[in-house]
Amino acid sequence: MKITVLGTGYLGATHAASMAEMGFEVLGVDVDPAKVDALSRGELPFHEPGLGELLRKHVDTGRLRFTTSYEEAGAFGDVHFVGVGTPQRAGSFAADMRYVDAAVGSIAAAATKDCVIAGKSTVPVGSARRLADLARASARDGVDVSLVWNPEFLREGYAVEDTLTPDRMVLGAEDAAAEAVMRRVYARQLEAGVPLIVTDFETAELVKVAANAFLATKISFINALSELTEAVGGDIRTLADAIGLDERIGRKFLNAGVGFGGGCLPKDIRALRARAAELGVEQSVRFLAEVDDINVRRRGHTVDTVTQMLGGSVVGKQVAVLGAAFKPDSDDVRDSPALDIAARLHSIGAEVAVYDPKANANAAKRYPRLDYVDSLEAAATGAEVVVLLTEWAEFKAMTPEQLHPLVAVPQILDGRNVLDPERWAAAGFCYRALGRRA
Ligand code: UGA
Repeated sequence: MKITVLGTGYLGATHAASMAEMGFEVLGVDVDPAKVDALSRGELPFHEPGLGELLRKHVDTGRLRFTTSYEEAGAFGDVHFVGVGTPQRAGSFAADMRYVDAAVGSIAAAATKDCVIAGKSTVPVGSARRLADLARASARDGVDVSLVWNPEFLREGYAVEDTLTPDRMVLGAEDAAAEAVMRRVYARQLEAGVPLIVTDFETAELVKVAANAFLATKISFINALSELTEAVGGDIRTLADAIGLDERIGRKFLNAGVGFGGGCLPKDIRALRARAAELGVEQSVRFLAEVDDINVRRRGHTVDTVTQMLGGSVVGKQVAVLGAAFKPDSDDVRDSPALDIAARLHSIGAEVAVYDPKANANAAKRYPRLDYVDSLEAAATGAEVVVLLTEWAEFKAMTPEQLHPLVAVPQILDGRNVLDPERWAAAGFCYRALGRRA
């Protein structure tokens, strides 16, 4: 069985390399020739632990190739995974389906043998049924093209692990033959005991957005509570530990701080609201507007706290910003709280030095006017406040003794609640955190 993966962005590149690792011959397809050239040389255009090695390994074994040609893909693949983007539409919260529609229409028209199209992109509920019709209508005479929906749950930073050994797999399949093909594709995971939930198209699409909406809600819940603990002088980490011990709640995704960002959670909750409104059930997920508001409020609150620490004005003050990526182990700055906060501080007059172990280059493309430096020490030198915004291991491991000789004023704002307040205070730092007693 031969596999194609349409779209070689974050999701597609990971899926393609992982499928090659599972033993399949894989053809990655992208409309961007520069991306195809880079990947064909074994160069990954973004940072993801372990993925570069996997890519190079299978470019070398010959199991993994890349092309811009849908014709080639249509002749090659028995299963075509669709992993193109569904960005937020300009001027709206809804998802832009242009790339998915084009990919499905093109591959169905190019297929010269019976095949399954497996959608992985995050789409508004109702899309799969429409795309199944589109695929059938676009197929050549005598070629059977069947569509399934197979959402992806990988996390950046753990993309390979999540693809090869997921918690669960979900398959929207309404045709027994296509389901059987997908069971063969995922035989390795099924043998390892990974649960496979087979369902209708709509449920499969909704599982994906429901999971992300739940995670976003969990984060905003703890961040809302952190506004309260700050107001009364409590400790949000202790609170999270305590409620998290209840197995029904669980401790994961209860880390309070500057809030969530990235290419998925913010966009997906907005798209779900837009879709619910189209379906006439806007009220069903109205709470997600509040989840979004709480999240965005974190950024303004962080800027206000820095301002307060600097005596009421940031103008001309040296601020060291640690982190630009939306989360550690990633160079992704899409909707990154860290970078947004850095830009807001700069826009109100602070002298901002940003250091991120991997995301400086992407951040500089987004906000060229900030000062990007190459080390933690360079950022801290002369700083009147150090602001930790992305919890990279390097920042979690830094010590007050390391920073004290460098900074102009020993003050630190722990935007992710990852440092030990007592240790920093004992070393002479004014330590502040989001959701802990000042
Ligand atoms: C998220 C989901 O976790 C994946 O399951 C999903 O497949 C993916 O979106 C997607 O739809 O493609 P990802 O965006 O890589 O994955 O990042 P997360 O680990 O979910 O983190 C999202 C944001 O929440 C980050 O900014 C992170 O810093 C923040 N976060 C996370 C918190 O602020 N607190 C927490 O306790 C956890």
